[in-house]
Amino acid sequence: MSREKCVLAYSGGLDTSVAIKWLTEERGFDVVALAVDVGQERQDLEFVRRKALEIGAVESIVKDVREEFVEEFLSRALRANALYENKYPLVSALSRPIIVKHLVEEAHRTGASCVAHGCTGKGNDQVRFEVGVAALDPDLLVLAPVRDWPLRTREEEMDYAREHGVPVPTTKKSPYSIDDNLWGRTIECGVLEDPWVEPPDDIYTLTADARGDACGDPEYVELSFEAGLPVALDGQRKSFHEIIVAINDVAGRHGFGRIDMIENRLVGLKSREIYEVPGALTLIQAHKALEDLCLERDLLHFKLGIEQKWAELVYYGLWYSPLKEALDGFVSTTQKLVTGDVRLRFFKGSCVVVGRRSDYSLYDYNLATYDAADSFDHTAARGFVELWGLPTKVWARQRRKTGKEGEV
Ligand code: ARG
Repeated sequence: MSREKCVLAYSGGLDTSVAIKWLTEERGFDVVALAVDVGQERQDLEFVRRKALEIGAVESIVKDVREEFVEEFLSRALRANALYENKYPLVSALSRPIIVKHLVEEAHRTGASCVAHGCTGKGNDQVRFEVGVAALDPDLLVLAPVRDWPLRTREEEMDYAREHGVPVPTTKKSPYSIDDNLWGRTIECGVLEDPWVEPPDDIYTLTADARGDACGDPEYVELSFEAGLPVALDGQRKSFHEIIVAINDVAGRHGFGRIDMIENRLVGLKSREIYEVPGALTLIQAHKALEDLCLERDLLHFKLGIEQKWAELVYYGLWYSPLKEALDGFVSTTQKLVTGDVRLRFFKGSCVVVGRRSDYSLYDYNLATYDAADSFDHTAARGFVELWGLPTKVWARQRRKTGKEGEV
């Protein structure tokens, strides 16, 4: 009898390596390993691909989805200025739905009856995988071996690996849990679990220490946008992908883009998270600066609420959902005229917007100036203020009459 197939999201690490064996031996599946390249640093994906086969996967695939990740995922996040809890640019939350999409695609191609991921039961990623798969193919079964197997400790997992011929790491395991892609890097666990402890210097790889001399002199960068997306750097046309890579480098060199936060996970607990997101934070800041110039006041204010909701939905694993899709429609409409240039200055851990210009700018010098060119109608202001303040006046008089002065 032929065995059922299961497509596993494979990273090359111990958990998903043991998962190949586990799914094969204990659950009786033929495992198809899928490693997805979303721009993670220093990973030899050809090595990862071969490792899966050596452990016993019947097929092992590496998919470079970086272009799609930029075009379909990061572009939406940037236009939505997406920051969960006003801080975290959703690094992992953005990569999970594209991994899910390719898992489901591979399941359909290989005729697999299920897919699997290597997440534990405590994080957001399990939710993003399982809800994402449910949205794309509600009939596909999702397995979570690392969450559901009886191997409780890392030692038990290593023992299982040794007994079953799965290569175990020879170097001491990093105490941190790290995830990364083009949008940045996330660092959890180890000493970071004590929110009072300052993060050790050696956890950072994308950003220089802003206290060090390495950061040097101030550096100016000009970013040009068309319809809400970056198209040029210092006047040179580049793809969004190239711009992300270049800005990660400049901002990182100046030590900009570190976040240390307490975050509310969907599964109900608070966690201490460190992020290195030099490019993402720079691009969002520049994009916002241009929107400030180009978006009409009501639209700009309303969009702030939409942005927050968008980030929350994506964080909560609802990338593929009707509300998120509808919000994308709204955001996309707002971006048509977000076209222009933003000038930034990097220096010792900071990134500051120092200039912005656009052919679609709603900033009117003649209205704003206090100089002779002033065309603002000052006489109109008197009546405006009078009527704007009328409800307040009525309320205050009533309070006085009823002797409730001072109470709100
Ligand atoms: N707390 C972040 C999030 O939920 C980062 C998750 C990182 N994932 C990981 N498996 N290390 O998006």
